[in-house]
Amino acid sequence: MILRFTISILCACILVLGLLCLSPLAQPKNGGAALNLPRLVKQGTATQLLVHNRPFLLIAGELGNSSASNLDYLRPIWPKLEKLHLNAVLVPVYWELLEPAEGKFDFSLVDGIVESARKYNLKLVLLWFATWKNSMSCYAPYWVKTDPKRFPRARGKDGQAMEILTPFSEENRNADARAFASLTKHLQKTDAREQTVVMIQVENEIGMIPDARDHSQQANEAYAGQVPAEFMTYLRRNKNDLAPEFAEIWRQNGEKTSGTWEEVFGKGPPAEEIFMAWHFAGYANSVAEAGKKEYALPMYANAALIRPGYQPGQYPSAGPLPHLINVWRAAAPAIDFIAPDIYFRNFSEWCAKYDRSGNPLFIPEAQNSQSLANAFFAVAQHNAMGYSPFSIESLDADRTLHVAGAYDVLRQLAPLVLEHQGKGEMAGVLLDDESQKTQLRIGEFVFNVAHEYSWRYAIRSQGDPPRFGGLIIMLSRDEFIIAGTGLIVTFAPRSGDAIAGIASLHEGVFTDGKWVPGRRMNGDQSHQGRHLHLPGNAFGIQRVRLYLYK
Ligand code: DGJ
Repeated sequence: MILRFTISILCACILVLGLLCLSPLAQPKNGGAALNLPRLVKQGTATQLLVHNRPFLLIAGELGNSSASNLDYLRPIWPKLEKLHLNAVLVPVYWELLEPAEGKFDFSLVDGIVESARKYNLKLVLLWFATWKNSMSCYAPYWVKTDPKRFPRARGKDGQAMEILTPFSEENRNADARAFASLTKHLQKTDAREQTVVMIQVENEIGMIPDARDHSQQANEAYAGQVPAEFMTYLRRNKNDLAPEFAEIWRQNGEKTSGTWEEVFGKGPPAEEIFMAWHFAGYANSVAEAGKKEYALPMYANAALIRPGYQPGQYPSAGPLPHLINVWRAAAPAIDFIAPDIYFRNFSEWCAKYDRSGNPLFIPEAQNSQSLANAFFAVAQHNAMGYSPFSIESLDADRTLHVAGAYDVLRQLAPLVLEHQGKGEMAGVLLDDESQKTQLRIGEFVFNVAHEYSWRYAIRSQGDPPRFGGLIIMLSRDEFIIAGTGLIVTFAPRSGDAIAGIASLHEGVFTDGKWVPGRRMNGDQSHQGRHLHLPGNAFGIQRVRLYLYK
């Protein structure tokens, strides 16, 4: 009797659990820790992306703009991504193809992409190419483009309409938000359990060009009006944590707490840019908010960066740029962070600018000809959530080898990197023409890092110096993992007059997170015990134990 009763209780439990797992209704509608959706969490000073409750490092690449518009075109690309050792891919979703007629949605491309990503064990970051793509509105559907009365355009100083939808239109904003919400609703239904899609980029490289602001009638009226009180309140409350470049503009104009845009921020392009940033960010916020209501994935906005010396209007202005982070934060709380597309050589400078005042770093686009040493540096020195070279499917043979080699090593290191992010137990290094040597301090040791010898020969013959770099992770007081490419590392104690020597040094790999030592590196491989050397023709991992003597 008791046995029969226990069996029926057990069966009932199994049935209920089974139903919970199978029913889409059991899937959460909104985000939050309790619902176990992909989300951002703090670990010390780092912000990490959690997927299925575990930190995830996006070792990624972004597809070229048109590749995801045709599933047949994509078919041969998936295995290539796998061979490159990616664990995630950034893929556009095009408004014009998702909603070819108003209110009629076609999810076949998205579904096909999610299905293939699962097959190749890849996570997806979707890029919502909608109202704006690199400033322009080329991805707006035909029914939007051809109805400028209902969906008005931004205008130049001369009153000329541009191929840019104005952010000063409720119709534009609502049409985009409705389409985006349909997309996230669909993802909620089809992907909340598997969680193949882990994050979404809202729009792409928003920015105003060739004028710093829109000159449509609605824009002119808003520009002549008062700075919204909520923005002024935000600035007063966050006065001590404003981006220095932005604080300077406000200070130079007397730090007023009310007035028109020109009264508060002065006359000219800088004020116009702040004004546009407020409106762009507010628009992106409405889109993100509508999407999150259906399915609360982490969402970010990306920016085209500024060439040295360029003024607002000369670059895509008012986007999610580091000097405008306060404007974006105040106007777009539904955008979780802002992100740089780094195509310039001064990679480390841009990382530092985006790793400010709690903004987590993620690099959705990097120049695909740049060294992947950048990725090692970013994840270790700036706790980056991930790295992604642009047009990853179009690498030539040399670049394929480079990326595959680097990502193979970074995938092995990912669990360790994630464990140590934000705790002060890890550092990244990037050596370029301006900083040929550097010192890192971790725990009780100083690491002097320099280029390996090949660097000198390379600049003699090529002009552009190769970029070497890597990372150091403290395993215990005297043991460290050092990984990367093209580095010579010597050691010293952080204090006292003792000398640091190498107790043992191995190359090796991580297999399923476990260290598997290879050769013991001594003799010529460590310059007879003087240093650790990571050759510049590949990416590698070495584990060193240090000791002190006098
Ligand atoms: C940056 C954009 O975000 C990408 O979509 C693409 O247009 C690249 N530029 C091209 O270099």
